[in-house]
Amino acid sequence: MKINKLAIENYKYFCSLEGSDYIASEFALETILKLIKKFKLSSVLEVGLGIGSVSDTVLKFSKLNGLNIKYVGTEKNEFCLEVLPENVKKYNEIQVFSELNAVSNNKFDLIIIDGLDSSLIELKKFCAPNAILFIEGGRENQTKSMLDIFSKCLFVNVITLKKNPSYAHEDRSVKSYIGGGQLIFINPTLKMKLFWIRQKALTFIKRKIRKIIKK
Ligand SMILES: C[S@@+](CC[C@H](N)C(=O)[O-])C[C@H]1O[C@@H](n2cnc3c(N)ncnc32)[C@H](O)[C@@H]1O
Repeated sequence: MKINKLAIENYKYFCSLEGSDYIASEFALETILKLIKKFKLSSVLEVGLGIGSVSDTVLKFSKLNGLNIKYVGTEKNEFCLEVLPENVKKYNEIQVFSELNAVSNNKFDLIIIDGLDSSLIELKKFCAPNAILFIEGGRENQTKSMLDIFSKCLFVNVITLKKNPSYAHEDRSVKSYIGGGQLIFINPTLKMKLFWIRQKALTFIKRKIRKIIKK
């Protein structure tokens, strides 16, 4: 199954579930899967599992492609903890911790930040040498603190020209663009540098197109 098809199908499915208000966007799911495929990422830490849209999508992708992705996530909201086992088909493959502090000192290729955690400042210890951070949506404060910690990183705000689909939660207007994400390469390889240049160019072009459409 193509990445965008899986992202759309799973996003649509999670939109139909209770508590879908805060789920990661369709664009975020697609971006995360593309990163996993392109850079052959095999371990993921998600800060803020929520109701499980990201973890379920990644683990489905992993199964469909015969991968063996280690998935660790944090969550302490009672409602989310209750629905996660029902929502995530491969829930038994996730190691769930209440907060970052409780995560054993593992290193991850991809760290997805989609929730709050008071220990985020210590994220460095969870990073594999060439780790990628994906911050869902705007999250200005968290992005700023990550850019302060990883002063030599490459950073790009990835955006899309797609608007929210009709099946998205009612708070997400079909007239607004789907939220983007913040991509941080803490110690980029050459392949990551080339990818980053392309993303910077795409964001530049998409911003121009948005301005033209607005006029
Ligand atoms: C943006 S959400 C995380 C969404 C998650 N990555 C997903 O795609 O399902 C951030 C935090 O909001 C809280 N949260 C998410 N959904 C909630 C809900 N339906 N009710 C209460 N809290 C929720 C959880 O603590 C979660 O970690």
